[in-house]
Amino acid sequence: MSQEIKFHDRMLSLGLARVTESAALASAKLIGRGDEKAADQAAVDAMRDELNKLEINGTVVIGEGERDEAPMLYIGENVGQGQGPEVDIALDPLEGTTLTAKDMPNALAVIAMGPRNTMLHAPDVYMDKLAIGPGFKSDIVTLDMTPTERIKTLANAKNCEVSDITVCILERPRHEDLIEEVRNIGASIRLITDGDVAGVMHCAEAQKTGIDMYMGSGGAPEGVLAAAALKCMGGQIQGRLIFRNNDEEKRAINAGIENLDKIYTRDEMVKADVIFAATGVTDGSLLNGIKRGTDFIETNTMLMRSKTGSVRYLNYRQKIHR
Ligand code: FBP
Repeated sequence: MSQEIKFHDRMLSLGLARVTESAALASAKLIGRGDEKAADQAAVDAMRDELNKLEINGTVVIGEGERDEAPMLYIGENVGQGQGPEVDIALDPLEGTTLTAKDMPNALAVIAMGPRNTMLHAPDVYMDKLAIGPGFKSDIVTLDMTPTERIKTLANAKNCEVSDITVCILERPRHEDLIEEVRNIGASIRLITDGDVAGVMHCAEAQKTGIDMYMGSGGAPEGVLAAAALKCMGGQIQGRLIFRNNDEEKRAINAGIENLDKIYTRDEMVKADVIFAATGVTDGSLLNGIKRGTDFIETNTMLMRSKTGSVRYLNYRQKIHR
């Protein structure tokens, strides 16, 4: 049996759901407690433990940081039992640490897995991102267009008015001009304070979430995770790395990036079929967060495979033993 066939084992994708469930469950007790670090650490520990139970020979390519700055789930760390398919793993045990600490919407535990050497080794720098949902001609909007051009082109393709388009943007001072331009042409903006993986994923289900387009800069690692999600859900994303200084450029070169100005498409960030899991930590438009009952705690997970385009929603109850 080839490695690729083994990688697509259905039980393996169920294992992936357990990985994000356990990270989300571990951070649950820290929702709304104002302690980002503790919430993140709890999710990291739990995700690593669960990941190491999987029968894979995994390498973390998008993780908690470089080896010297992250003791666990660092870039290059080997995870899994060591037998089984050789896989690349992109993960964020807690995407939205501040959202969790403040009990604000759309914090997620996320992971994506694909065959070895198929995911962009994005350094921890910013990435300019542009995403839309499925059903449009390839590259219909690009990072080379102005924000106005992108929105007008999308409105035209959707056969609607510019005023019917909603763009999701991270609320940051660096986005002031972008926000002004989008508002000036009459489109609407959903500002988010954090969590652009969820922000991009929202474009794939515009009818449910009300978001047609994602624009602006955020973490490059989050860009690769979002590309993996859209590869499963459908939709387009483009990303271009942003370097603020020589050190950041060096990091990219060390990560094997040759063309620093390149615009990456979804399929250049995630080259082969992937499996992707996200568990809600706090409530969001795509996924409910952790819920507590009298004697149970409940999670909601999206489990997806790009090869089949399957999207499963898993509702898991864990009994609380008193
Ligand atoms: P954390 O979960 O690591 O706090 O990241 C949250 C996040 O909002 C990402 O979703 C986003 O890509 C990035 O931070 C944006 O970075 P910055 O806060 O520096 O603008």
